[in-house]
Amino acid sequence: MKAPDIIRKKRDGQKLSREEISEFITGLTRREIPDYQATALLMAIYFRGLSARETADLTEAMMRSGRTLSFPELAEPKVDKHSTGGVGDKTSLVVAPAAAAAGLRVPMISGRGLGHTGGTLDKLESIPGFNTRLSLEEFRRVLSVCGLALMGQTEDLVPADRLLYALRDVTATVESLPLISASIMSKKLAEGLDGLTLDVKTGSGAFMKWREDSEALARRMVEIGMARGLRVEALITGMDQPLGNTVGNSLEVIECLETMKGRGPADLNELCRELTASMLIVGGLEASRERARGRYDAVIQSGQALERFQRVIEQQGGDAHVVEDDRLLPRAVHQESLVAWEDGFLTALEAEAVGRAAMGLGAGRERMDSAIDPAVGLVFEKKVGDPVSAGERICVLHWNDAAMLVRARATLRSAIVIRPEPPGADPLILARVPDDEKGATPA
Ligand code: URA
Repeated sequence: MKAPDIIRKKRDGQKLSREEISEFITGLTRREIPDYQATALLMAIYFRGLSARETADLTEAMMRSGRTLSFPELAEPKVDKHSTGGVGDKTSLVVAPAAAAAGLRVPMISGRGLGHTGGTLDKLESIPGFNTRLSLEEFRRVLSVCGLALMGQTEDLVPADRLLYALRDVTATVESLPLISASIMSKKLAEGLDGLTLDVKTGSGAFMKWREDSEALARRMVEIGMARGLRVEALITGMDQPLGNTVGNSLEVIECLETMKGRGPADLNELCRELTASMLIVGGLEASRERARGRYDAVIQSGQALERFQRVIEQQGGDAHVVEDDRLLPRAVHQESLVAWEDGFLTALEAEAVGRAAMGLGAGRERMDSAIDPAVGLVFEKKVGDPVSAGERICVLHWNDAAMLVRARATLRSAIVIRPEPPGADPLILARVPDDEKGATPA
């Protein structure tokens, strides 16, 4: 079938066959289908959607568009964790070493931050010398030496996603449940995993602002993984306020080091604990969630998670002394406090605006090719629910550029709400998909 016929079929709300989807993705990857036809199909999918079967077929076709990984040399279960992205979302830096120390192998392929959300690669690259551009051979070597390896997408892994994502980004077709599901799961299925834990964010700082949408996305991704024999569990977690106390690349690395030293903020530690426990369950190393949580506590308390992190920094070319001395990380030249303007309770720290404030300081990028400043960002001393008195510090802005500070300060101010009454408290972990206690078992 010709490309215009496939586009027309979807435009008119019909279902595409597996062959049609595969033909289209192959044509796109070979650059035989031009961008204007690909974007027309993306827009048709945006409006008409894809069934579960079509989404699975799209995922499969995208996964097969390039090289896929496998690690037959590793006897241990291979498990990754993927987050749909948020503000201050730094769990990968704790969870990957903790899961490796607890007995899993974690081949983690991560992304960069875009817009108000941060990315794992940017955080790692704030460690002097840390190389996230590994060849697949180096990745394999680091994984066997450290039990974890952390890198970015390569040219030959799921090239169809890179082409499609670049088009979606500039044609307002990112926010589509089937397209997001296929994009994420094609990359995860190409990693040669035995298990996968998904952290699907919901709230103002997330891709999906509403819990029902986040749950639908989680269900679709879990179905795709299970249909291919992968054990998958998704946690639906709150992203109405930033996770932890810091937003900004090197500041977030410092917070992760503190968490691995047992001194992290409670919300960050809780989420890292739940995600690591989920990875141990989908990886088949633990059947009981309580025991899996205990294993996380043990590798944190014993310093084994921190030791794995130090080892991976060393193996990926970074300065591993940052683990003992975080003053070796980039630091902003200036600091400025933002204080409470009245007595009351901190009722909102609206995550999207906080993310935009951090981006305004230079911590994030507006476009994929913009430069970032690893040193700048925000450190919160109060979180939602805390009482505050007028003049008391809520946040410290770490800044390098005065013009950027002016805008960031105003954006940050707009993110903060103080009310006389304490707000209700929402749990951080809102739901699990599937919602049984053991995690998903493949069909
Ligand atoms: N992350 C991805 O990798 N793909 C999407 O489509 C959205 C978020």
